[in-house]
Amino acid sequence: MSSEMQHIQWFPGHMTKTRRKMAEVLPIIDAVAEIVDARIPVSSRNPDLKDIIKDKPLIILLNKCDMADPKETSKWIEYYKKQGVSAIPIDCKTGKGLANFKDIVKLTLKDKLEAYREKGMAGKPLRVMVVGITNVGKSTFINRVAGNSRVKAENRPGVTRGNQWVTIDKQLELLDTPGVLWPKFEDQRVAERLAFTGAVKDGVLDLELLAVRLLDNLSDRYPELLADRYGVADFGTDSYDLLCAIGKKRGMVIRGGETDTERAATMLLEEYRNCKIGRISLERVEDNA
Ligand code: G4P
Repeated sequence: MSSEMQHIQWFPGHMTKTRRKMAEVLPIIDAVAEIVDARIPVSSRNPDLKDIIKDKPLIILLNKCDMADPKETSKWIEYYKKQGVSAIPIDCKTGKGLANFKDIVKLTLKDKLEAYREKGMAGKPLRVMVVGITNVGKSTFINRVAGNSRVKAENRPGVTRGNQWVTIDKQLELLDTPGVLWPKFEDQRVAERLAFTGAVKDGVLDLELLAVRLLDNLSDRYPELLADRYGVADFGTDSYDLLCAIGKKRGMVIRGGETDTERAATMLLEEYRNCKIGRISLERVEDNA
């Protein structure tokens, strides 16, 4: 991800521009693939996508599934299926699940493919626009699926200059722009979950508070993983006490025997983000019902 992308500030002007660009390319694409973070499939989605893409078929790619709880990821896939939305788990770090991408595109667009065949246009490639909020792994995904085929900047009639088309093979082309979307930042819980995963830069939210809130979530949903990793048994009700206990176990003690909670907070967040605590999903289908 370019640093420019990382530092995009989503203010209404930017959002309007991106919406407009997406509306412009809509007529020439066949489907939209939204990449989300499998650990937080709700918070990592763009709140306005449905409204922007109208009835273009949507494919959801649950990325980073190597770090998510596999049980929960399966439930999410079922959940989307029931809603008539195609979804597959992928892991762009290793490439696991990516082989299913072309199949899911073809399955989602089977009526279109059939229509092409009937009209004698069987060779016409399917075009999919890839979107996602910052840090979900969009660049990694594109690089992986593109393999050796080069990303080419190309101008096509009727299309805004500078669109990035990625040719996957004769049957599939991906549109890489304008693919960076905004999350539902105004929702405090969403901002917090994005911060847990490192999708928003540290410094936006208080680190200790963030670690305490992460512990609230983990002690409720994954107490056994916390116990295994940090040797803590009593979770009590106060996650700040738990953070102190965890820090102490790691020898993060300052003068007077108190825990260096700032260090403990940094360590906890880093270990969560690097999947050291375990495969953890912070959003579940049943919360969304
Ligand atoms: P973006 O374009 O959507 O903004 O995201 P990008 O591809 O830059 O990926 C953001 C981070 O997520 C990268 O890590 C990338 O390696 C990691 N990532 C992407 N897909 C997966 C996945 O399926 N599993 C895991 N575990 N990680 C994934 P980084 O720390 O920013 O860089 P680096 O560690 O790759 O150097």
